Amino acid sequence: MRLDKFLSERTAYTRSQLKELIAAKKVMVNGVTAVKANQSVSESDEVRLEGETVRSLRTLTVMLHKPAGYVSATEDRAERTVLELLPQELRGQGLFPVGRLDKDTTGLLLLTNDGALAHQLTSPKKHVPKFYIAVLARPFEERYRELFAAGMTLGNGETCRPAETAAVTEDGRKVLVCLHEGKYHQVKRMFAAAGNHVEQLHRIGMGNLFLPEDLPAGEAFVLFDKDLGKVLNSETDFSALLRNLRKCSS
Ligand code: URA
Repeated sequence: MRLDKFLSERTAYTRSQLKELIAAKKVMVNGVTAVKANQSVSESDEVRLEGETVRSLRTLTVMLHKPAGYVSATEDRAERTVLELLPQELRGQGLFPVGRLDKDTTGLLLLTNDGALAHQLTSPKKHVPKFYIAVLARPFEERYRELFAAGMTLGNGETCRPAETAAVTEDGRKVLVCLHEGKYHQVKRMFAAAGNHVEQLHRIGMGNLFLPEDLPAGEAFVLFDKDLGKVLNSETDFSALLRNLRKCSS
């Protein structure tokens, strides 16, 4: 198969962009810089694009900065879906959201066409930590820390895994939350059970993968294997993250 075709089937780049990347010597085949877009390659060749190995399977995972007003679904009769936000070259590739963010929640949403990966990322056994910034109606109270850490019981009697929370801003309205599971409306229900109310919710990270600050709402980019590794093999330090967020907001 031609090198440009091989790459266009496995990446989000168009054939013309790939020709430019090949001309710019950004593609290597088995350790040798490729010079021609029509060079022949097969599944057994190791192809690297900008230093990253291009996977032989046609799986694709993207990070979207979800804006409010879109549902985390592939189709919906009444609502706009996150799929509608994807650029043309990322459509028709079987992408679906990994878990859900509520319609009014913003921030990091992964979409993939890799069912096994989605399963790993959402499996309760994996406990991938998810980091949220919530804006509360009333100031944070220190007792929330213990309530969340003890494994909270929600209004309907459902119990949650231990979670972490702390105030980010001095007025106590902006808080950081880390969950290790993904129940329906979980952050909102946890604060409701504590006697508060979430006015805004924004997901900033999963595992060790964070939403880039310069990624505008509504935009998406393709993740490389190393980014996925950050989601799966991570021990994110809640206190260090909190210190950083406090520094940025002071
Ligand atoms: N918790 C919520 O309440 N909503 C979300 O969208 C995600 C987590």
